[in-house]
Amino acid sequence: MRSLLFVPADSERKLEKALRSGADILILDLEDSVALSQKEEARRIAVHFLRKEAIPARVYVRVNALATGLTDEDLAAVMPARPAGIMLPKAEGGQDVALLSAKLRVHEAEHGIKDGATSILPIVTETAKAVFAAHTIAGASNRLCGLTWGAEDLSAEIGARVTRDDAGGYTGVFALARSITLLAAASAGVPAIDTVFPAFRDMEGFARDCRDAERDGFTGKMAIHPSQVPIINAAFTPSEEAIDHSRRVVAAFADAGARGVASVDGEMVDRPHLIRAERILERARLAGLDQGNGR
Ligand code: COA
Ligand code: MG
Repeated sequence: MRSLLFVPADSERKLEKALRSGADILILDLEDSVALSQKEEARRIAVHFLRKEAIPARVYVRVNALATGLTDEDLAAVMPARPAGIMLPKAEGGQDVALLSAKLRVHEAEHGIKDGATSILPIVTETAKAVFAAHTIAGASNRLCGLTWGAEDLSAEIGARVTRDDAGGYTGVFALARSITLLAAASAGVPAIDTVFPAFRDMEGFARDCRDAERDGFTGKMAIHPSQVPIINAAFTPSEEAIDHSRRVVAAFADAGARGVASVDGEMVDRPHLIRAERILERARLAGLDQGNGR
């Protein structure tokens, strides 16, 4: 799950384009990118798209937030078409995730879908309350496949005029929300997915944003435009150097036998380095790059 491309579900043209984007996951949006008058049409188009054959990506649906009263209609429309996952916006802690999970269980039972087959990807920082509750998501549902965050809705709620300063870095409250996402994801034992970069013509700024996210522990990122997808895939696929180094760390540990510490390239490596190396090799394997077991 490196790249997740948002596609407004009321746009057949963009859905067609999305098929050739190279994204790992497509997120058919029924929420903020779709006007209220278009919700019904968007659901209809989303279902049609989900029923297509041979879509070269996993397809998720972003439903409307629980507080809107639209979520149930969204789920009733799309669940028969078996989306791989549901993105829950404005998720306020584990209670919201558990509630969605219960709703999905009913739809799965009604449509002969295997129990638990539908993943949940919540956006965990879109309201102030959500930020405070993010830690309660750990253990809320075994459908949880990752956590992601959003800055724009949070800025609207708290009244901040911008999310970034003049130098391009997030201002304090958004940097906090981003960090909380990383911590909440780690405590829930799922991947952290970085938020969108709205300036979709600024490719240099976008590449920097991807590099920073990967450095800090995110393992994927959401895109709003197909041109962002290859940049995400490149940034979140472990480099050859990283894979090679990780293999040598794993090998050094195997050689060290019972010892908990080893050395690689003149540097001490102990347990946290081994865990880091194993994570990189797992990501490489998922990207189809590392076939071996590290030796
Ligand atoms: N998915 C699939 N195709 C997309 C796309 C997307 N997210 N964004 C743009 N495209 C297509 C356009 O339709 C266009 O194709 P066309 O030339 O055949 O019409 C092509 O890519 C180039 O698009 P471009 O002209 O550069 O952008 P735009 O002005 O048409 O669209 C946005 C700009 C921001 C409106 C559009 O990228 C978009 O809708 N993004 C997703 C928004 C969203 O889902 N937001 C919710 C999450 S924050
Ligand atoms: Mg939003």
